Amino acid sequence: MQKTDFIWLDGTLIPWDEARVHLLTHTLHYGFGVFEGIRCYEGRDGRPAIFRLNEHVDRLIASAHIIGMGMPYSRDELVRACIETVRKNAMKSCYIRPIAFVGEGEMGLAAAVANPVRVGIVVWPWGAYLGDEGVRNGIRVKTSSFQRFQVNTLMSKAKVVGHYVNSILASVEVRRSGYDEALMLDTDGFVAECSGENIFIAARGKVKTSPLTSVLPGITRDTVMDLLRERGIPVVEERFTRDEVYLAEEAFLTGTAAEVTPIRELDDRRIGAGKQQSVDRQYHTRRLIEFRVGDAAGDETDSGIETHGMRVGGHFQSLDTTRSDDLGDAIHQRSCQSPPRPVRVHEQVFQLSHAVGISPGCKAHD
Ligand SMILES: Cc1ncc(COP(=O)(O)O)c(C=O)c1O
Repeated sequence: MQKTDFIWLDGTLIPWDEARVHLLTHTLHYGFGVFEGIRCYEGRDGRPAIFRLNEHVDRLIASAHIIGMGMPYSRDELVRACIETVRKNAMKSCYIRPIAFVGEGEMGLAAAVANPVRVGIVVWPWGAYLGDEGVRNGIRVKTSSFQRFQVNTLMSKAKVVGHYVNSILASVEVRRSGYDEALMLDTDGFVAECSGENIFIAARGKVKTSPLTSVLPGITRDTVMDLLRERGIPVVEERFTRDEVYLAEEAFLTGTAAEVTPIRELDDRRIGAGKQQSVDRQYHTRRLIEFRVGDAAGDETDSGIETHGMRVGGHFQSLDTTRSDDLGDAIHQRSCQSPPRPVRVHEQVFQLSHAVGISPGCKAHD
C-alpha cells in the first residue's frame, strides 16, 4: 500500500503515521462499524473528480442508521471532509475510505451504542482491484461454499465492518484454490453477489442482476443499470441461478474497487463459449471504444456531458485544487465545462452493449 501524507480523524487532518487507535477500540473487537469505498478519478481537465460522492456518503449514513449507530457528522460535513482529505494529499486519482467506528470506553456488546463514535477518512492510490489482467481478459470465479447471509441474519443494505467476515471466508476459500473471486449464493441457492462486487449476466439482448435482498445496493450497479437503460438495453433485477450464469453470453462484476470486471469462467465453465464473442474479441471492441472515448472530448451538449450518447456529467463532483480557501465553492457538480475523462465503468458498458449484439442508437460512434 502506498502511504499518503494525511488522514482525517475525528475532524482533523493528521499525519498518516499518527492515525492510531487504542487496542480497546470497540469495533476492533465486535465489528460494529460502517465504512465506504469511493473512487476519485483524474478529470480530463486535470482536476480530481469524485464518483458519486453524495451517494456514498448517504450510504454510509444509511448503514449507521440501519445498525442503530450514531453518526457525529452531517452529510455535508462528511462530503467536505472527503474532499478536504483528497485535496490535502494532493491526489489526482485515488481510493477514498471513510469509516465510522465505535471507540474505546466500556467493553461488552451494549457499549456499541454507548461509546463515542469516531470517524476516519483515508485516501490512497489503488489500481484495478481484481488486476489489470482481470479487467482485460476476464476473471475466473468459483462458487463458494459460504452463502451470503440470510436477510434476517444481518442486513445487507448496510456496509458493516463485521459483515466482511462472510466475504473474506468466501474469497479466501476460492483464492486458495487458484480462482480470482468468489461467487456467493443466497440461502435459497440463488446467485447473490461476489465477495465485494455485484454481478450482472447478459443473454439474448437482456441483462439481469440480482435483486436487493441479500446483496449490497452497489452504487456502481446503479450507474451501470442507468447507463444500460439509457442505451436502450433492458435490465431486470431478478433472481437467477448459477446454471444461468454458466449459460450466459456475458457476465461481469461491478464495484467501486473492481469497477467493471468481466467474468471469463464460473466453476470452470467458460462464459459465452461458442455463443458470443470471446473476451479477447471483446477486448478489441474495448480498445476501439477507448479510442473513441478520447474522440468524445468535444461531444458536449447544453444539457450536460454526452459521451457515446450517454450523459455522465451528474455522476461526478470535481475539486478545484486552486481554491483551497473556500471548500464550498470548490465542490460543484460537473457542468458542460471541463467534462471528466470517462472512466472504465462506462467504457466497459459500451463493450457489453456491443457484445450482446444490441444497437442502442448510439450517435456517430456506432
Ligand atoms: C459485498 C459488496 N457488494 C457489492 C459491492 C459494490 O458496491 P459499490 O458499487 O457501491 O462499490 C461492494 C463494494 O462496496 C461490496 O462490498
